[in-house]
Amino acid sequence: MEECMKPVGVFDSGVGGISVLRELVKQMPDEDFIYMGDSVHAPYGTKPLDEVRKLTIDNVRFLLENGAKSIVVACNTATSAAVARLREMYPDVPLVGIEPAIKPAVLYKKDSCVVVMATPMTLKQEKFQKLMHNYSSMADIVPLPCPGLMEFVERGILDGEELTGYIINLLDSVNRRQIDSIVLGCTHYPFVRDVIQKVAGNSVLIFDGGAGTAREMKRRLFNAGLLNNSGRAGNVKFINSLNTEEEIKLCQFLLTYGGRN
Ligand code: DGL
Repeated sequence: MEECMKPVGVFDSGVGGISVLRELVKQMPDEDFIYMGDSVHAPYGTKPLDEVRKLTIDNVRFLLENGAKSIVVACNTATSAAVARLREMYPDVPLVGIEPAIKPAVLYKKDSCVVVMATPMTLKQEKFQKLMHNYSSMADIVPLPCPGLMEFVERGILDGEELTGYIINLLDSVNRRQIDSIVLGCTHYPFVRDVIQKVAGNSVLIFDGGAGTAREMKRRLFNAGLLNNSGRAGNVKFINSLNTEEEIKLCQFLLTYGGRN
């Protein structure tokens, strides 16, 4: 098979990376995608670093062995734990990770209060600490670990009382009324964006890195001569370590879910 006809591999600890996949499909409709979600081992964000690194490397290897021409690590947690090692292991594979979209949030308003919602692991890693440090003179950046939030999305719960209560408690812990913007630093969170917006209020701007990550993958594929311009609509293949019919149905539902990304 011609190299450019091969699929783009997309990986996440569960179903969250589908928020990035939606953007990839939008921006590169001719590409085929193979999406691997590791819901059996989710959540990654509260596990030890070594374990997350190993799981990520194993899953990326699986995607490459199954014919992926490039890799999107559509998980902030896995990116912070393993992307440097993956780049060493696969120097010739176009590989893009995702990280919290702090820059556009900081640039949007001078001296603002920017809350970064992410998993405990993402916020603890040096990669995030450095990113935050780069912008700390321009805004009040408040890291907000959200253990338990990705589990709602894994269960297909995207609204309702329990979720709203969780978000209210969370945002109250950082003084909800002072927030100017929120960065969704976990790929599961765009699926509950509407609830976050409702609780935070309409004046709060919400940012996530899905579209930027998709743009970067497109640029990398173009530069490597690997972009598929066949003119025929590509398809998406879902694989999940849970391997149940319900899980694949949830994946398909999330791909077309109407919440803005
Ligand atoms: N989707 C994930 C992220 O972007 C990880 C959630 C988890 O496994 O804890 O960080």
